[in-house]
Amino acid sequence: MKHLWNIHLFLLILLCLLGAVTSQVNPGVCRYPLGMSGGQIQDEDISASSQWSESTAARYGRLDFEEGDGAWCPEITVEPDNLKEFLQIDLRSLHFITLVGTQGRHAGGIGNEFAQMYKIKYSRDGSRWISWRSRQGKQVIEGNRNAYDIVLKDLEPPIIARYVRFMPVTDHSMNVCMRVELYGCEWLDGLVSYNAPAGEQMTLPSYPVYLNDSVYDGAIIYSMTEGLGQLTDGVCGLDDFTHSHVYNVWPGYDYVGWNNESFPSGYVEIMFEFDRTRNFTTMKVHCNNMFSLHVKAFRQVVCYFRSETNWEALPLSFSPVVGETNPSARFVTVNLANHMASAIKCQFYFADAWMLFSEITFQSDTAMYNTTPTQPKTGLPANTQPEDDPTHKIDDSNTRLLIGCLVAIIFILVAIIVLILWRQVWQKVLEKSETFAYNHNQSSTTSEQESNATYDHIFPLGPDYQEPSHLICKLPEFAQNSEELASTSTAASKSTTTTVVQDGVPHYAEAEIVNLQGVTGSNTYAIPAVTMDLLSGKDVTMEEFPRKLLTFKEKLGEGQFGEVHLCEAEGMHEFMNKEVLFDISEGQPVLVAVKMLRSDANKNARNDFLKEIKIMSRLKDPNIIRLLAVCIHSDPLCMITEYMENGDLNQFLSRHEPEGQLALLSNASTVSFNNQCYIATQIASGMKYLSSLNFVHRDLATRNCLVGKNFTIKIADFGMSRNLYSGDYYRIQGRAVLPIRWMSWESILLGKFTTASDVWAFGVTLWEILNFCKEQPYSQLTDEQVIENTGEFFRDQKRQIYLPQPVLCPDSLYKIMLSCWRRNTKERPSFQEIHQALHTALIWGHV
Ligand SMILES: *[C@@H]1O[C@H](CO)[C@@H](O)[C@H](O)[C@H]1NC(C)=O
Ligand SMILES: *[C@@H]1O[C@H](CO)[C@@H](O)[C@H](O)[C@H]1NC(C)=O
Ligand SMILES: *[C@@H]1O[C@H](CO)[C@@H](O)[C@H](O)[C@H]1NC(C)=O
Repeated sequence: MKHLWNIHLFLLILLCLLGAVTSQVNPGVCRYPLGMSGGQIQDEDISASSQWSESTAARYGRLDFEEGDGAWCPEITVEPDNLKEFLQIDLRSLHFITLVGTQGRHAGGIGNEFAQMYKIKYSRDGSRWISWRSRQGKQVIEGNRNAYDIVLKDLEPPIIARYVRFMPVTDHSMNVCMRVELYGCEWLDGLVSYNAPAGEQMTLPSYPVYLNDSVYDGAIIYSMTEGLGQLTDGVCGLDDFTHSHVYNVWPGYDYVGWNNESFPSGYVEIMFEFDRTRNFTTMKVHCNNMFSLHVKAFRQVVCYFRSETNWEALPLSFSPVVGETNPSARFVTVNLANHMASAIKCQFYFADAWMLFSEITFQSDTAMYNTTPTQPKTGLPANTQPEDDPTHKIDDSNTRLLIGCLVAIIFILVAIIVLILWRQVWQKVLEKSETFAYNHNQSSTTSEQESNATYDHIFPLGPDYQEPSHLICKLPEFAQNSEELASTSTAASKSTTTTVVQDGVPHYAEAEIVNLQGVTGSNTYAIPAVTMDLLSGKDVTMEEFPRKLLTFKEKLGEGQFGEVHLCEAEGMHEFMNKEVLFDISEGQPVLVAVKMLRSDANKNARNDFLKEIKIMSRLKDPNIIRLLAVCIHSDPLCMITEYMENGDLNQFLSRHEPEGQLALLSNASTVSFNNQCYIATQIASGMKYLSSLNFVHRDLATRNCLVGKNFTIKIADFGMSRNLYSGDYYRIQGRAVLPIRWMSWESILLGKFTTASDVWAFGVTLWEILNFCKEQPYSQLTDEQVIENTGEFFRDQKRQIYLPQPVLCPDSLYKIMLSCWRRNTKERPSFQEIHQALHTALIWGHV
């Protein structure tokens, strides 16, 4: 490794020696950050098609910046067939751009949007926009895989532009945010376009050689107009033009060539247009000289100059040294004698049957490309060490070479210093990225209490539910395009893996489910090693319960892979954990909830189920439903949990009335305010316990709490498919379900489930309790409007609607709710604090 590095170093020094100052751009060195992260690009030069909010405006689209909300995000979801959204950078002058970097929105862990793919458009004049294509003709560039890593992509071919647009591309409609950087250097040639006759095809005995300009970005019919291409891509062709630097291309790729038979006049005329009037010193034409195949540099060139609008009457004529016998490809330098011009027209005369050019460069106003950073930058990004290009031909003008080398010797020292600095910066960046990754891992397991905590498995949710960020695209705010999707999904054949079209409507959810389920069906499975491991594990004290002692009473719920039944269990006392108190006399059947995995569930689901048992068996809190016993010796796998005689809290409260006149008249049973507080306090206490274990519930609501004697409460989960509460869940394409009315904005929009989002749900649960569950949260809003409202919470422009203060709710309790619904997750209270506050309210009676 070290050795390799030394060779690199040597080559680099060699390169510096030979080309510390060069008169043509070297794509291997021209890789400086152009000022998105460094700040040299001004805010006003960064614009966008739209913005989601002021805090995600274009100016926040700077790589490695965390200002505002952490990135540029367009106003609406990016849709597969609709590339309207872009982030635009005006570089103020023409630049040679060799590399682009992209990053998503991380925002200290809150953000999770990024562009998986994007396209680049560019313009030199701000009016004609060109789509970038790779040498293989591909427009789409692979982007980011997560919200924080920087992904750098070489632009092959590089682009010459003043304006650059990043256009996020997706294969399904989704939220996208971007931070970007451009790398390159100023385009000192100032060339805006060259117009030339189209390159031709040479027929060799063995194979044809295509000498067309394959990366020309203007129009090509019989001639090429208004573009730049192969002649300005910085890549010089090899001595043998049938070979190329570029892999996997046709013979002749690097060259544009013409045959004398097609030009009776004996010359090829190329017209060059520049960004402004310049004082030209030289033009260098890289020519092939493969005499054996009748290829030779031009015999003579005659150039005309246009300054302002008039062509100068007197042309400049130049003939290279005749009798040249050197068959290598090289630059021929034409002295342009300080002519002032904004356009130059040159006629290159054939010296043989073929004339092949790979590069043409212009030197003007004494401007020179420098190998040391010209911009006050931090240097190259870590992994963009200049690529050595030993085959790169340099100037054949001796004086230039001499001066260049002298200057280079001075620059060697500078280059070595710069190199050492690079190395250090590089190492720092590497260290930084490592610590970053480390921190990120840390935060996901501890400080943020992310939902990937194992509690997810306790109450297994539908697959979509677990990955709502995938889902967001299906929510109405983001999914007006499902029709358009249907029409494109057939065309976009590469997206078929994620898009299943049924009856003309795409069912993304299904496709994802298929992925998650893997091989379903005939997957019969002997009791796996996991189970044995589980049974022998010392933290599992669950005993096998004889299935025959369970009597089915009622179906409580249903999930993706199983059902929850209410059963009577006989002889439970003998099997039960001694700590569990059942105040039922012995011999009587006990009501239990039995969660069972369907026998056709796949291996993953089974493993999750067993994991769930393991975790459930560890949860011991008076306000959390306890696992009593299991049936895992045979299918279907079951876990038997407590059930409470008064059913779920939602039904319980809706059967009751607040204490008062009305209740007296109607003779309804009542729940006092103190008991309401008691109920809420117990939920807070149970949640305090869960959060202390970094468990995230994800579906806290009154429907998931059970009521026992004397208003005791235990938190449970019954999955989301209970018919009774189907209205509480938002269904997408009939499959995915989300309890959106209980979900925090970040859970809905970003798929983030944390203790802080449980706190949000607790606020809604508290609201339900104080409303006696007489009304669904946001009952006046449709599901679509609820999601719209979520967007308002995100935008935070005071347009968001909060749940109203319930009639019998004192201000102090409503304040607790409002604090649970704060936009910033860090500002929401902890369950500890909530529990404390409710406990106090309980002790002091009316608050
Ligand atoms: C150049 O020629 C190759 C080989 O025939 C062809 O595939 C390619 O499309 C041509 N490029 C242009 C721009 O005409
Ligand atoms: C062009 O540059 C040369 C060398 O710097 C200078 O001598 C000459 O006066 C310039 N020509 C014009 C028209 O400015
Ligand atoms: C093209 O070049 C070849 C070789 O130099 C020569 O024999 C031939 O006459 C030329 N054709 C024309 C049309 O000039």
